[in-house]
Amino acid sequence: MTQPILVTGGAGYIGSHTVLELLKAGHPVTVLDNLSNANPEALARVQELAGREVAFCRADVRDRAALDGLFRAQPIHAVIHFAGLKAVGESTGQPLRYYQNNVAGTLTLLEAMEAAGCRNLVFSSSATVYGDPAALPITEDMPLSATNPYGQSKLIIEDICRDLAKADPRWHLALLRYFNPVGAHPSGRIGEDPLGTPNNLMPYLLQVASGRRPHLSIFGRDYPTPDGTGIRDYIHVMDLARGHLAALKALPELPGATAINLGTGRGCSVLELVAAMEVATGFPIPRQFAPRRPGDIASCYADCGSAERLLDWRATQDQGDMCRDAWSWQRLNPDGYRSQLTKGML
Ligand code: NAD
Ligand code: UFG
Repeated sequence: MTQPILVTGGAGYIGSHTVLELLKAGHPVTVLDNLSNANPEALARVQELAGREVAFCRADVRDRAALDGLFRAQPIHAVIHFAGLKAVGESTGQPLRYYQNNVAGTLTLLEAMEAAGCRNLVFSSSATVYGDPAALPITEDMPLSATNPYGQSKLIIEDICRDLAKADPRWHLALLRYFNPVGAHPSGRIGEDPLGTPNNLMPYLLQVASGRRPHLSIFGRDYPTPDGTGIRDYIHVMDLARGHLAALKALPELPGATAINLGTGRGCSVLELVAAMEVATGFPIPRQFAPRRPGDIASCYADCGSAERLLDWRATQDQGDMCRDAWSWQRLNPDGYRSQLTKGML
């Protein structure tokens, strides 16, 4: 399996780990990224880890001419589409920016793919499309809803993909609904590098563990969960990266646009994740209870049966692995990719 793959948003968190796995599997990889939320150092390190080169195009996914140029340069077998804005809170304040970037970006990409005759797409969707889930674990056929423009942009894109598949059976589209990606490559060379104050639990926890922030605020201790804190399905980013390779492989057999959950199938509370991080670091993590965060749900975890059946994939790493690898990344790169630069990229 060595077909050329185009990866949009491939310099970002999940993209960089996936590009590494693609390179290791022998695929020629082209990354298109506008670097709006990424550091090119990530790709320099991916190349170093893989011992192979990535073709990089700094461009916006809404730049049709840039996309046409990439499709003309070589026959692209499939596109993995990570490029998008992802901050839920920000999307509420800037809905037009989110719809423009995420929805218009995907439309431009799909049009360019259609024109080039490349009809294989793996798309980054999200468990956010389930809104407040009606039951647990979450299966792909449960009702979909959105509570913010970010989630709505994912739903609209999924609908566009479903319509496209109905209109033309030559399209194969995997809509991968990620649960909560965390962790880093075990080398500690690549990982998540959020700008500013992190909104998500794991990056915040890492900054507390490294002494950059005084304590973790745990949002809510009165949820209807065994320890009262929110439950999520954290998935190791390397498992997630492998999930994309499995989706690429299965794509020809997938009918039309197929939604598939990528999670571990196991719920983990905030307190459980804090405890796992304490084991990984070897010291206590200062924490305080705080009110619930508006818009948060109590519990969210995946039924991963479809991924096992359709992709022959399952997550293999647990919270201990996630915290160990996230902590090595944090320790080795206290300022993320700004800590030290590798020569030779860009
Ligand atoms: P990220 O921000 O690290 O990566 C996204 C990449 O896309 C960045 O490198 C950014 O520079 C690039 N990008 C954004 N808009 C672009 C545009 N218009 N043109 C070109 N490049 C553009 O985010 P991530 O965590 O790696 O997420 C990747 C995808 O997965 C996103 O679509 C996100 O919505 C989705 N997702 C993420 C999570 C999560 O918790 N991280 C959960 C569910 C779904
Ligand atoms: N939490 C804290 N303290 C913090 C941050 C988070 O207690 O400082 C708690 C939250 O209340 C929640 C859990 O930790 O119970 C996880 O919160 P995250 O912000 O890490 O993740 P969410 O599940 O809220 O949201 C994430 C992404 C969304 C995506 C969703 C489903 O941010 O974009 O997963 O994939 F839609």
